[in-house]
Amino acid sequence: MQTKGVNMTPVSPGPYREAPPCEGLCRSCRAEGCGKKEEAGRCFRIRGGRPLKGSVSVHGAKNSVLPIFAAAVLCRTPVHLARVPRLSDTGVSLRILESLGCISALSEDEAVVDPSAVTGSRIPDRLVREMRSSSVFLGSVAARTGEAYLCLPGGCELGARPIDLHLMGLRALGMTIEEKGEKLHAYHNGLKGADITLPFPSVGATENILMAAVLAKGRTVLRGAAREPEIQDLCRFLRRCGAGIVGDGGPVLYIDGVPELMGCSYAVMGDRIEAATLLIAAAVTGGEVEVRGFSPADTGAVLGVLRRMGARLRVYRDRVQLSAPHRLITPGRVDTAPFPGFPTDVQPVLSAAAALAEGETVIGENIFDSRFKHLSQLVQMGADVRIDGRTAYIRGVESLHGAGLKALDLRGGAALVTAALAAEGESRIGGLQHIERGYERLEETLSALGAEIERV
Ligand code: UD1
Repeated sequence: MQTKGVNMTPVSPGPYREAPPCEGLCRSCRAEGCGKKEEAGRCFRIRGGRPLKGSVSVHGAKNSVLPIFAAAVLCRTPVHLARVPRLSDTGVSLRILESLGCISALSEDEAVVDPSAVTGSRIPDRLVREMRSSSVFLGSVAARTGEAYLCLPGGCELGARPIDLHLMGLRALGMTIEEKGEKLHAYHNGLKGADITLPFPSVGATENILMAAVLAKGRTVLRGAAREPEIQDLCRFLRRCGAGIVGDGGPVLYIDGVPELMGCSYAVMGDRIEAATLLIAAAVTGGEVEVRGFSPADTGAVLGVLRRMGARLRVYRDRVQLSAPHRLITPGRVDTAPFPGFPTDVQPVLSAAAALAEGETVIGENIFDSRFKHLSQLVQMGADVRIDGRTAYIRGVESLHGAGLKALDLRGGAALVTAALAAEGESRIGGLQHIERGYERLEETLSALGAEIERV
């Protein structure tokens, strides 16, 4: 397919797409936990104990590209994106765009979205169920077409995931939102800027409100906005399309609405969560690595914790070099918090490192209700863990042993991989469909750092 002179292959099922579900045991490994409904023959086999060594570059950020795809709907002309990560969530986003009437194409790490003929306003239920963050399309689709239909994404493996703050902000901009059971219908006769205060800096609510406000008449002031780097990336993208936004990176956003936006070329920021995952994995294996292609300033809280654990770091503008001692020490207490605090998305991976660090680590999870599910699997590997509500007490042991494991959610899956890399013996990790939501070809990245990991 050709889109505005760019040669691209049409979006079609590729290796990053979901494999058909299998009703039986994982055929290759038959590992405990790789049981019913596991995808056929899809496990990581990891032989632990090799220090990670070498230099790798991270991919584009998942949490940045998804809202940018949603924002593309706001434009009148094609959007060209570079550094698009090949993730299953990327595939879901492109299918949503196609269902709305956009023409999209993906080639290597580039995507073109032509939203000039957007006609649809229904975000398909099954895609919302596949990717909860599809709710971020609500603001942009309604702003562009005058209405949007969305089924409520509901809770997920991380606990209850209400979108009340999204709806509050969109209503303040003049949207009528009818809720019938699980179905939402948002519509309006022209959006108007408003003064909105979020009681909690929700990332998704900030994104949804931003996307509706850029096409609203007049000025919107959004107080209590999320400050995550991915919000800043979205704002940079929107500004390049012609939006009037100032204040991103701080808690108050000022958005001056414009009548229309035009597409642009934009490179997605590097994935700070992938970078943090690789650095922690290197640290727990006693490795020596360089992780490139992201902004260390976006990962300050994680780097601070790694230093407290005894890792030596050299920080440059767009890369970090890490060398780790034979055994890490506990960082003490770590509490997750909105940016610039310690990211909840890195908490599970940190807990894997804590399982082997000398001393007791206390982890407080303050963002999501249920983000300790992976800990019971770490216990199967020999970890010493106690959970009390939203606090985990992890007493580091000298070694973990390989086991048959199953990823239950994206970052929990990354935690299991991290623990398996440092454990003695072999581990098999199923549930790869969760890991593939957020890490592009993780096994290739880790193999490049010398890990013994393969997909079987
Ligand atoms: C985004 C990220 C996710 C990250 C999270 C926090 C994407 C695609 N996902 O998720 O990886 O872990 O930010 O950094 O970018 N809440 C409400 N009402 C709302 C909205 C949120 O109560 O209307 C609650 C949520 O249930 C949750 C907390 O606020 O407990 C944080 O949610 P939010 O910041 O919105 O995260 P997401 O945008 O869902």
